[in-house]
Amino acid sequence: MSSMNFPYSQFLLIPAISLILLLVFLYYTPFNGNHDNPVSDLSFSYNSLKIRPSSSAVNELLSTSTYKSSSRHNTSRIKKKSSLDRIEDDLAQARAAIRKAIRSRSYVSNKEETFIPRGNVYRNHYAFHQSHIEMMKRFKIWTYREGDLPLVHYGPMRGLYGIEGQFIDEMEDKQNPFRARRPDEAHAFFLPFSVANVINYVYKPILSMSDYSRERLQRFAGDYISVVADRYRYWNRSGGADHFMASCHDWGPDISSANRELFKNFIRVLCNANTSEGFRPEIDVSMAEVYLTRGKLGPPRLGLDPSNRTILAFFAGGAHGFIRELLLEHWKDKDADVQVHEYLPKGQHYTQLMGKSKFCLCPSGFEVASPRIVESIYAGCVPVIIKDDYWLPFSDVLNWSKFSIQIPVKKIKDIKTILQAIPNQKYVKLQKRVVKVTRHFELHRPAKPFDVIHMILHSVWLRRLNLKLE
Ligand SMILES: *[C@@H]1O[C@H](CO)[C@@H](O)[C@H](O)[C@H]1NC(C)=O
Ligand SMILES: *[C@@H]1O[C@H](CO)[C@@H](O)[C@H](O)[C@H]1NC(C)=O
Ligand SMILES: *[C@@H]1O[C@H](CO)[C@@H](O)[C@H](O)[C@H]1NC(C)=O
Ligand SMILES: *[C@@H]1O[C@H](CO)[C@@H](O)[C@H](O)[C@H]1NC(C)=O
Ligand SMILES: *[C@@H]1O[C@H](CO)[C@@H](O)[C@H](O)[C@H]1NC(C)=O
Repeated sequence: MSSMNFPYSQFLLIPAISLILLLVFLYYTPFNGNHDNPVSDLSFSYNSLKIRPSSSAVNELLSTSTYKSSSRHNTSRIKKKSSLDRIEDDLAQARAAIRKAIRSRSYVSNKEETFIPRGNVYRNHYAFHQSHIEMMKRFKIWTYREGDLPLVHYGPMRGLYGIEGQFIDEMEDKQNPFRARRPDEAHAFFLPFSVANVINYVYKPILSMSDYSRERLQRFAGDYISVVADRYRYWNRSGGADHFMASCHDWGPDISSANRELFKNFIRVLCNANTSEGFRPEIDVSMAEVYLTRGKLGPPRLGLDPSNRTILAFFAGGAHGFIRELLLEHWKDKDADVQVHEYLPKGQHYTQLMGKSKFCLCPSGFEVASPRIVESIYAGCVPVIIKDDYWLPFSDVLNWSKFSIQIPVKKIKDIKTILQAIPNQKYVKLQKRVVKVTRHFELHRPAKPFDVIHMILHSVWLRRLNLKLE
């Protein structure tokens, strides 16, 4: 609607000087301090929340409910409360509610809860539950309107990167309950460009290696940011720390590599969460990769009862990347228990085989993430994660070691020994928990509480809770 001809084709005209000014500004603003102000004891992992329940910061936060009668803030001050003060008050109340839930080991909600997360698959289920309640009640996101289709406001809805388009589409949906009506009521700001679409539309035709250069993508993202930072006060207010983008494309992380200063605080929601490639767990968000076929929101559910799973471990897939090469080298078509195929024998059904297996091998491909983890979970098959440097999705909240097995790449040859050594009783527990966490990886449109889109949003919410803007 309020499209403003985002000047991608003319990006060279955007004066470089303004970018330099922005960098100088970011450099000199005392923004760094925001990450370690008193509230940051509400760290992105709930554990530390437990450690300091009665610190002075908490007392201060708790006092926000009596804000009006507090002698420190008289009424003339209240009238002048800025929209940012209101937002920060709101976040302070959310933090207080979460801390209280942890202390009292219960929750407070003003509506009936349809699902109550409980059990040790959660790092702290009280904290997560209350935090999700607070998010549903309060969290408002402004999606910038700048920019034109197909690079902005739209992304791939199917295939390997389908979650990128689905997430953008959900954020653009007028019915989305997290939509802010005005930017000044937003806790967070979404930049709805699609890295996958930039690559699909801008990087065509690719004729030589130099056409793979990330520069066009980086200029596109940098330009988008300078447009919104120029038009609104929000980017400059936080140095981008309450702003986020979402991309499932392999190149997602590359948007920031040419200009780390500009993206220093910016939340990148990525499938390609490779910590050796600059993924920052406290700032960025790891998003689950979900392979989507036409008209479907995920793979079919063909999982058998654990007692009927006859295959110990299963994998089928191409020799993409060195980890898979290693796996195939050791196990391809060699073992009846550890069934590893490069191509499935004719007549075999991939998802059915997952449903018949106790463990499903999920090695990295060309990049760390792969849709196998989600496929495995949907099939009720315990994922065996064979990845180095991968930051697992939603691990602020979920304890992956309760429902998956992690095998470092250098132990690929020991897969069978490791899996056979797991007692059946432990396997049955792991499997039950896989079934239990499935809802957090399910995609619904519109999104539903605790589904994969809400888990992504909750990860952003948590990062916003850890930040206090002055
Ligand atoms: C934000 O900062 C940049 C760089 O200093 C500047 O060009 C831009 O105009 C500022 N935005 C606003 C809304 O003041
Ligand atoms: C309330 O705050 C304003 C501005 O901070 C100050 O000028 C005024 O004297 C205060 N009034 C009272 C009653 O403390
Ligand atoms: C996660 O699970 C592991 C394995 O059971 C356990 O050792 C660890 O303490 C758990 N972490 C948290 C934060 O609960
Ligand atoms: C296991 O498979 C057998 C044979 O197909 C079937 O009769 C049985 O009901 C299955 N058991 C469970 C618990 O699903
Ligand atoms: C993760 O990043 C490192 C550093 O760039 C790279 O060597 C490694 O291959 C990446 N992992 C995967 C699975 O692509």
